[in-house]
Amino acid sequence: MAREQWGTRAGFILAAVGSAIGLGNIWRFPYMAAENGGGAFLIPYLFALLTAGIPIIIMEFAIGHKFSGAAPATFSRINKKWEWLGWWQTLVGFTISIYYIVIISWALNYLLKSFTLGWGEKPAQFFGSFIGSAGDGATVFSTVGLQWPIFFGVIIAWFINWLVLYSGVRKGIEVANKILMPILFVMIIIIVGRAVTLPGAVEGLQWLFQPNFSALSNYSTWVDAYGQVFFTLSIAFAIMITYSSYLPKKSDIANNGFMTAFINCGFSLLAGIAVFGILGYMASQQGAPVQDIAGSGGVGLAFITFPQAINLLPVAPLFGILFFLSLTFAGLSSEISINEAGISALMDKYGWSRQKVATGFCLIGFIISLMFVRTGTGLAALDIVDHFINNFGIAFAGLAEVVVLGWLYKLSGLKEHINSISDFAVGSWWKLCLQVITPIVLGYMAISNFIHEIKVPYGGYSSAGLITLGWLWVIAIVVIGIVLSNTKGKGELLSGTSTKK
Ligand code: ALA
Repeated sequence: MAREQWGTRAGFILAAVGSAIGLGNIWRFPYMAAENGGGAFLIPYLFALLTAGIPIIIMEFAIGHKFSGAAPATFSRINKKWEWLGWWQTLVGFTISIYYIVIISWALNYLLKSFTLGWGEKPAQFFGSFIGSAGDGATVFSTVGLQWPIFFGVIIAWFINWLVLYSGVRKGIEVANKILMPILFVMIIIIVGRAVTLPGAVEGLQWLFQPNFSALSNYSTWVDAYGQVFFTLSIAFAIMITYSSYLPKKSDIANNGFMTAFINCGFSLLAGIAVFGILGYMASQQGAPVQDIAGSGGVGLAFITFPQAINLLPVAPLFGILFFLSLTFAGLSSEISINEAGISALMDKYGWSRQKVATGFCLIGFIISLMFVRTGTGLAALDIVDHFINNFGIAFAGLAEVVVLGWLYKLSGLKEHINSISDFAVGSWWKLCLQVITPIVLGYMAISNFIHEIKVPYGGYSSAGLITLGWLWVIAIVVIGIVLSNTKGKGELLSGTSTKK
């Protein structure tokens, strides 16, 4: 059966941009910047983008296009012995998918609440009851029930995913992104327009853009910047390889890579401007410094601080709707891409139909994602899995990918492939980044992260929780990856041929 293809180049770019732009841009980028001293974050972020993000996205587009398969098939065609790496990346993606969808459900719930500012005068308290409490002495394993509003949001989000993925690449994913992306851009431009004209916005923006060179000596700023670039560009978790496998033979790889990366990062800057403009306004209303307001990091920024800020705005409900609808749209288009990477991998290997795989995949994903919907303890589980999968899943899978492709495979062959079909050529900078700079930085990060994690266990959780949901999970997905690569398939993967037209 011929492999599905995008209808148009714009369709592919919108889908790739839709994958890249996600919760990572609106929810994660601003708090990463906030936690790393505002402006100080932008320098390592740009460095990581130019030396790792862009070279890797071009490389993933190139291998997906050349070998015409989802990640396992692509790595298997490079060399059968690397198939497991493709499965590992796909499982990193699956792990992200099952908690990412829960955050989309939060956004959906907050979208509904926006109409009446239903989080009330005390958004922190509201968030606490929204997540629920499992009572004193609860561990991450305690299960006292499910949070029903979050449960229903998760059902809706999985249903939308299923509908889109069941409908296929052109009729499902491409159509969904052609609807979601333009609306998202219009919404963010309206939000930015409003944010920068608020009194006090300038102080917020100053804090975001004022470079603070002393933070550059802090190793964790660099780790966060690299982590953010991988997460935001959807690289090293199987997506971009899968999406580019649906490109027609004549496709401009280098240009597509640059465009996707720059549109995504432009969007992050817009989101940063919107968020910090509003935080600056809030700071001026409350007479507090911006860093104190922005300081409530992580989850808190979008779901506690932001509702607080929205309460202070003129025409507050409209603003809440725009913000949480943006978060929902951005999240959905990324979630779809993460799941497509898994669905496509199973179709390649076992030759099952898209309809069957999409249905089974979404059902199983839904059931597993309920672990993050549990009253009180769901959030703790989400926090642990998110931390470990970012620091030890994406980072290590990214390192393995650059080592395999940079050193064990002929990168010059890939360079020729890219340059024969792209408008502008990738040169020796591209090879230098992939073969030398990125492996050194990622390797250093991987070791330092590992040592740090052992010395300072994450987030004050119990060892049992960290071992099970953290260490065992990240090890298990490698093992499952190896097992899957050794199972007998009967799909396209075995033929080893490209069906590209
Ligand atoms: N790239 C997606 C995001 O940033 C996963 O949210």
